[in-house]
Formats: sequence, C-alpha cells, structure tokens
Amino acid sequence: EQTPSVDLALFGALGDLALRKLYVAMYHLDREGLLADDARILGLARQDYEAEAYRARVRDALESRVDASERTEESMERFVARLEYAQVDFTTVDGYSKIADWRKDSSRPLVVYLSVPASLYGDICQHLESSGCLDEHSRVVVEKPIGYDLETSIEINDAIGAVFDETSIYRIDHYLGKETVQNLLALRFANPLFGDQWNQSKVSHVEITVAETVGIEGRWGYFDQAGQLRDMVQNHLMQLLCMIAMDPPSNLDADSIRDEKVKVLKALRPIEGDMLNTDVVRGQYIAGSVGGKQVPGYLDEEDANTESRTETFVAFKTEVSNWRWAGVPFYLRTGKRMPEKLSQIVIHFRQQPHYIFDPDQRSLAANKLVIKLQPEEGIALQVLTKDSGLDKGMRLRQGPLHLDFHKAFPKARIPDAYERLLLEVMKGQQYLFVRRDEIEFAWRWVDTLIEGWQARDVPPKRYPAGSWGPVSSIAMITKDGFSWYEDY
Ligand code: BG6
Repeated sequence: EQTPSVDLALFGALGDLALRKLYVAMYHLDREGLLADDARILGLARQDYEAEAYRARVRDALESRVDASERTEESMERFVARLEYAQVDFTTVDGYSKIADWRKDSSRPLVVYLSVPASLYGDICQHLESSGCLDEHSRVVVEKPIGYDLETSIEINDAIGAVFDETSIYRIDHYLGKETVQNLLALRFANPLFGDQWNQSKVSHVEITVAETVGIEGRWGYFDQAGQLRDMVQNHLMQLLCMIAMDPPSNLDADSIRDEKVKVLKALRPIEGDMLNTDVVRGQYIAGSVGGKQVPGYLDEEDANTESRTETFVAFKTEVSNWRWAGVPFYLRTGKRMPEKLSQIVIHFRQQPHYIFDPDQRSLAANKLVIKLQPEEGIALQVLTKDSGLDKGMRLRQGPLHLDFHKAFPKARIPDAYERLLLEVMKGQQYLFVRRDEIEFAWRWVDTLIEGWQARDVPPKRYPAGSWGPVSSIAMITKDGFSWYEDY
C-alpha cells in the first residue's frame, strides 16, 4: 500500500533528536519504499546554512548512524535530494513565509514536526497559522516532555490546541513506536489462551522494570529539573502499564484504544499518606561500576549541582482500582546506571487452589509470563514439569516455553520506533500517539506523588552505579512475600 505523500516541515532540523533519530528513520522508510516519490522535507533552524551544506550535514549523520550494509550512493542521494533548508527565527512571524513559498502549488498535506523545546510550541503554532501555512489537512507532531506538571502541560496543550484540532495533533511517546510494545496488543488480544487469565482471579501480581545502563549523558541540566519520575514514569512506564492493564478495545481505532488506556490511568491508585513510606522508593546513584567500567556518581557528573536531590531511580507499588485488577499489586521500577539495559514485564499467575506436591516447593508452583521488550524481544512462559531422574520422585522443575524473536524470525529487521511513528503520521493514523487526556491523567498521578515527596522533604536513597537500586526497593516487594523476577 502506497504511503500518502506529505510535505514535512521539520523545526529543529539541526538539533540532537533530528540528527540522531529522525533523518535515520526517514532514510530507512525511503529505502524500504515507504516514502512517496514526491514526499519532501524542509529543514528549519536558526543557523545560517545553504541547502547544500545542510544536505551534507544530514549525509554525515546518516553515514555515522546507518549501517554500511544498508547504504548505497543511490539510496543516500535519493533521500538527501528530498531536503531543502530555511533559516528561520521561530519566535517571529517573518520567516514563516519561507514555508508558504516552499509549499506553493503543493496539494500534499503539511506535517509540522516540532523537535524543539515545548516552550516554543505556542509561538510556532500561532505563526504557522497567521502566515497562512495551515489548512484542515495539516498535522503537528510534538515531542515530550509536554510540561513539567499538570498545570504546565495544560498550558502547552492549550497553546497547541488553539491552532490544531486534537485529531491533527500527534504527541510522541517513542515507547509506543517500539515494535515490542505494539506486540503487547497482539499478545493480549489475539491469544485466546490469555484472554480469560488476565484479571485478578488469575493474576497474583505484575512487575514492570525499565532499567538503563546509561547515566545522564551530558543532559544534567535538563534531567535534574525532571528526575526519573517525570522523565520516564509519567510517559513510558505509564504507557506500558496501560497496555498491560487496559480492557480489550472494541477495535483498533485510535480512540477505542486510547479510551481504554485513559480508564486505566483514571483508576490508578495515587501514592499518598503512609504509602509514601511503604510503597515508593526514590534513589540516586553514587559512583560504581557498570559493565566492568568505573563510572562517576550523579553528583559528580559534568555540570552537576552537588546538592541535588533529584532521583535517578524510582520503584513503586500501585493498583488499578477496577473490577479486573482490584487487589493485584503492580510493582514498577526504572533507573539509570543499572547493571544492564532491560525492559521487561512479568505477569505472575496465582497458584493452584489445591496443592499436592512437595510442600517445600510450594512457592515455586505458579506460572509466570515474562515479556522482554528490550534489548532482545522475547516471551517466555515459565511452566512446571516433573524433574527427570529416578531419584526425583514427583519433584517439580520450572522451565520456560520460550519464544525468542530474533531466533524465530531471523530475517526481520526490527525498525526503530521513529520509523513506525513517522509512517503513521504520514498515513494520518493516531493510535500510537498520546491523547491529551492521557497526558493529563498521568500528570495528575505523578503530581500527587511529587507533592507528597516535597511535603515530607524525602531525600533519595543512594545506590551504587551498576546495582539494581537502593536495597529498600527490594524490601518494598519482599515484605509482600514476592521478589523482583531475576533471570539476569
Ligand atoms: C527518553 C528519556 O524519553 O527515553 C531518556 O528522556 C531515556 O532519559 C530514554 O534514556 C530511554 O529510551 P530507550 O528507547 O533507550 O529505552
């Protein structure tokens, strides 16, 4: 199926995200025949560049980021020939006529990609409108963070919404572009085996871990204002939680899916009062070793304010208070400078109502569904069988029914999240983008927790880089009789 053609105006064309991810993603789409022949890109930035120099810059970015086996002179040339450049000061309306000039006689829809700080979104949208660049087919793509809390997110969403209709706004959460995250929909809603099991009568508890080995990577100023809760939980972990906990949508339409996700966010129990002592742990890494390499602590990183109390790790327990999930604890954790990069969801099923095997093995006797999202995608269902050997009697043994995607489907190239997301924008499909109410309910939950921390002035607990976080994050789950799933 031919991808509809568009004119893409890329604000922040020389920025980090554009050079690291966006051109690479568009290049791959082009190479796979998924960009319409006449689709074009106008790079917009403050810098004074000639179009040729801009194309050369993009070429360099591609050369350093696209594997040599996936590049030919022809495919590179074909892609960069789509690029034009305009120097524009985004804050004044004057330069916007350059977009209208570039669009002259084009009947393709305009896609505006705002790869710039959210503080500029309002001005840019206004100037696009007043310079006559927009029509009813125009779309806008925006990046996180949408705000710092509920109030600022409302301001930003209002500013965009004053110009664009919600059906034309594509808010990116790049986790939704990951093939593995979309696979959660297929896993849950295409397999009858799981349909009847996915609720409080069959599930004991759920774990979500998103661990990163990276530290702050030269972003200290930004990160320190945010912290791991705002930077990772408000968006990515909440989206994963929604995909796991939502009810089946009646179809795959954007609003059917997003309606179900919003219901989860509304039902999410806030962490407040005494729960602040028992159900949440904030951490900050100190020096340690990751992958055999010595790394500095958060407060010793470049540009660090040595007094900072910002968290680089957070673990918490919550519940989705509805008929499906009442009484099932959800344990989530995410941190920087963990021992390995790992995003994983574990569904722990309940035990049999009556147990007849060795009493010592009782705690083993339950199934677990382990869904690995990154680095390698895989699904393993831990099942119990009889241990082999004449001397074992009816001893039980746990082993996985395992689907490793790379082994099972070796030829498939797993596309980067941005490839999928850009393709969906061009097609005008919104189901992988975040609706305004999702963002706002997620902020509401996060704000309650942050207010609790502020009122109690809770400092983060230290954890050495290369560990799985503060020991109290382990105690948080063991006191309930469970433990974080380990196969690492
Ligand atoms: C970003 C966060 O949204 O996601 C980063 O701002 C984080 O701090 C990144 O490192 C993680 O993304 P991924 O795709 O590497 O899991």
